[in-house]
Amino acid sequence: MKIIDGKKVSNEVLDEIKLAVQNRKKLNLKIPHLAAVLVGDDGPSQTYVNSKIRACERVGFESSLFQFDKSITEYELISEIEKINVNDDIDGFIVQLPLPKGINQENILNKVLPKKDVDGFNPINYGKMALGIETFLPATPAGIIELIKRYSIDLKGKKCLVIGRSQIVGRPISILLSQNKIFGNATVTVAHSRSNNLKEICLDSDMIISAIGIPEFIKKDMIKPGSIIIDVGICRVKDDNSLKGYRIVGDVDFESVYDKVSLITPVPGGVGPMTISMLLKNTLRASSLND
Ligand code: GUN
Repeated sequence: MKIIDGKKVSNEVLDEIKLAVQNRKKLNLKIPHLAAVLVGDDGPSQTYVNSKIRACERVGFESSLFQFDKSITEYELISEIEKINVNDDIDGFIVQLPLPKGINQENILNKVLPKKDVDGFNPINYGKMALGIETFLPATPAGIIELIKRYSIDLKGKKCLVIGRSQIVGRPISILLSQNKIFGNATVTVAHSRSNNLKEICLDSDMIISAIGIPEFIKKDMIKPGSIIIDVGICRVKDDNSLKGYRIVGDVDFESVYDKVSLITPVPGGVGPMTISMLLKNTLRASSLND
């Protein structure tokens, strides 16, 4: 068994959440309600938000979509966020990123009420995450950790390379895996676009978590035999043999590395589905904190 089946684990997590919602109903507790704020017409963002809303329906959550034209000003968007902050019906919400040019992401995330910040991007929650204090963990790193736990991967003392230093994935997962937690205690290296000798660093790593968005960048000659690969990349590449004219690939050249690894997440069906189930898990927690 080499494949880390994120689709299967995500379905298990969603089933657990659905059960928890049914139990809440029996106890006459509030149905969790997730809202999404979507600004502009970015295609992938619309797809992600739709998937989040569909997942809410599946587990029995209530959901709302607040959609705004890309012409909305930062001031107007902040006032919309403040309305959601005080709307007692909504337990948690996300502001889908990226935001259109002209809107300062930092200013917006700063306004999301920490107790409703189920993405964990408000500086208060992000700071707690960095300090190892319990809080909402950003969904993609939380999904990676859930896979590490459910596949009983012991990273204690292992060399773990994170490629990419984004605020959404690379930075938080590098912090979390170095912490003295059951899933952590790894020796973490963060590589990025300015890193020298990336191939050598990859060859020296027991686990590689790649989140750079360059299709099939990591090849067989870059990895150590028996290493574990977590591929966070999701890219469309042209494929005339496919009905859609494209296929989805990750940062890792899956076919070429497969024989050499001990465990690997496929794309699609690896980390991607986990992101949504962990967002819903955070929302369930936000709701139960209000009980
Ligand atoms: N854009 C890409 N990933 C994410 C995410 O996890 N949350 C939000 N809000 N936007 C994203």
